[in-house]
Amino acid sequence: MQDNEKVYDSLEPGAILPHLFTRYIGREIVYFETVDSTNNAARELALKGAGEGLVIIADSQTSGRGRLNRVWVTPRSSSIAFSMVLKPPIKPCDIPGITLVMGTAVCRALRRMGFLQAGIKWPNDIVLNNKKVCGILTEMSNRVDNVNYVVAGVGINVNTEEFPQEIRAAATSLSKESGGYVQRREVLVSVFEEFENLYDGFKAEGLKSIMDEYRSYSVILGNCVKVDSINESFNGEVCDITDEGLLVIRMDDGSLRQVISGDVSIRGMKGYV
Ligand code: BTN
Repeated sequence: MQDNEKVYDSLEPGAILPHLFTRYIGREIVYFETVDSTNNAARELALKGAGEGLVIIADSQTSGRGRLNRVWVTPRSSSIAFSMVLKPPIKPCDIPGITLVMGTAVCRALRRMGFLQAGIKWPNDIVLNNKKVCGILTEMSNRVDNVNYVVAGVGINVNTEEFPQEIRAAATSLSKESGGYVQRREVLVSVFEEFENLYDGFKAEGLKSIMDEYRSYSVILGNCVKVDSINESFNGEVCDITDEGLLVIRMDDGSLRQVISGDVSIRGMKGYV
């Protein structure tokens, strides 16, 4: 891409909408040059009645956050930060599946753009060559038995050149991996389109509809990993990811253990977060 094309790589609605072929995802976009967190902005709009598919996009975030209250850095004009308002007709216990749907969509979109090594580290880190390129943070509001709204927030390192020291060994960007400038708009549009396709299937048929594809993108299946969950850490071999999205670990004594949530790192692989 030429330098003069970079200048026009805007994420404003007027730059996105003419290229977007979705029915309801991203048809309405609220854009900020800078915002604290697109997830916060999406939550506020959801509370005011925003409908399914509304997307908040920010060129930069001042308090972007990740899972487990980690900081997520979104430098100006080089990466993608967006949050989607969703109102799926499903039970609150099925909401974590949306993270897997989004991860599958991002992976598909990156592969479609030629990043054929894009993979998923359970549950929701998108990686390229063992380094994290995208993170997903899903938050929700629910009553006992029904969901009020879901906010699916996605951060993608597109043209990021420098990362903070703490994550430098574990993070990468699309431009670093491809050796050239990558158009943010193209990434965003691809993700919205792939997400809509997969999310339609998820609402109609449940998580099972995407899990074969999700497993095919997994970078941990068959690997020895360390699992850090809320109360404990343990090692084992990943022998399956179930149709419900649970990780199945074969422990050293041969027993199987299912994991609902946690952080996974591949043993012996330094780059991993
Ligand atoms: C993670 O890997 O821990 C999840 C990172 C999620 C970051 C995105 S950027 C857009 C949205 N707004 C936020 O504050 N967080 C998510």
